[in-house]
This record gives sequence, structure tokens and C-alpha cells, in this order.
Amino acid sequence: MIQTKLLASILSCNFLKLEEEIKEIETAGCDMLHLDIMDGNFVPNITIGPDITRQIHSTTNLNLDVHLMVANPSFWVQKFIDAGAWSITIHQEVDYHLNRLINSIKEKNTRALVSINPATSPALLEYILDYIDGVLVMSVNPGFGGQAFIENSIKKIEYLAKYRYINNLDFVIQVDGGVNLANAKNLIDAGANEIIVGSALFKNNKNDFVKKFKSLERFII
Ligand code: DX5
Ligand code: ZN
Repeated sequence: MIQTKLLASILSCNFLKLEEEIKEIETAGCDMLHLDIMDGNFVPNITIGPDITRQIHSTTNLNLDVHLMVANPSFWVQKFIDAGAWSITIHQEVDYHLNRLINSIKEKNTRALVSINPATSPALLEYILDYIDGVLVMSVNPGFGGQAFIENSIKKIEYLAKYRYINNLDFVIQVDGGVNLANAKNLIDAGANEIIVGSALFKNNKNDFVKKFKSLERFII
């Protein structure tokens, strides 16, 4: 069984102490940094761009998982790869030529994922699942941290995990939004491999949170 990974979404961190926060995330034992890139167009919020991503990359050994919530991902992909992205996620809802864009990310030796909003069916991914490294199931409407988990996201994780099993594929299933220690085990049981956590991690002691999360994993293995 693939071990579940914990990805820290820095959207909920104190940006005035970004470097300190990143060190704490590393020390606590998070597996990756999840960077939420918002353009004020695809989502009603704006966050960071390639320059800050590059600075983050220079201050951490953790891989950067870059979640592009932008209306024109093909314009941004190369800029974030140059800035140090290890993994790039684009949204199914915004690109007309997903297959082409996914291939262009993979050609750069960068992991390529596709995300679906809460109202998007995972069945729409049928003809891209063979090509991608993973699916990000959004369990809140993208744009903000600290929102409530949308319950039917679990059905989507189960659907994707079943599809993956039946077709002998090995894409990763991520879940992002409203995840906490109370619901994480259900998500792992449903088949999620990478759990993204923002506010629940930052409003708690990070060491305690990660320790409890890791014990959840041991419990299910
Ligand atoms: C929302 C972002 C998430 C968010 C998760 O648009 O994609 O990564 O930061 O934050 P929480 O865990 O607080 O829902
Ligand atoms: Zn995200």
C-alpha cells in the first residue's frame, strides 16, 4: 500500500513569517508544500506568483506541489516549472486542450495532475486518466482556506480509486479543502493518497497535528 502523504497548504500561514512557518512545517514532518496560485479570475482571490514561488523553493528541501487556480494555465505552467515546481495541478474546467497541456508538463519532467471542482464529475476525466500522474479532488469551492468540507467529495475519491484499481492504473488521488483530523481517516479509507491541509494544520500545533495524522495512517495500514 502506498503511504498517505500530508501536504501543507501555506494559504493559511502567517505570510509575514513565511520562512519560519516553512521551517516549522518541515520539522513537523509534512511531506510536501502545497502552493495555491490564484489569479483573481478563475477564483475570487489573488495569492502568489512565480517570484515568491522561486524564493520559497530556495528556502526549503520539500517538493513544491503547485495548484494553479488560474483561468489561463498554459500561460503559467512553464513559469512555475522554472520557479521550482515539482508538481503542477491544472483545473479540468479551464483548459480546452488538457491532453496537450498535460503532455507539455510531463515533457519537462514535472508531475502533472488535473483538479476537479465540487460540481465537476470525475467521469469527465475518463480519457485523461491514462496520461496524468494524479487527480486533485476539490472538497471546497476553490479560492479560500478555512471552508467546510463538502461531503460528496468522498464519493468522487471512491469512484477514482475503483477506476484506478479496475484499470490497473497508479495515478495519485489528492483531496483539498476542509480536511482535518476528524475526517482524514475516511478520506484515506476511500483511497486518497495525498491529503492537503491548510487551516487545520496552522491553527493547531504543527508537531502535534502531524504526529496525530501519522498515527491515523498507521491505524489504517
Ligand atoms: C482552496 C485551496 C486549498 C486551501 C485548503 O482554494 O486550494 O488548498 O488552502 O485550506 P483548508 O484546509 O483550510 O480548507
Ligand atoms: Zn489547493
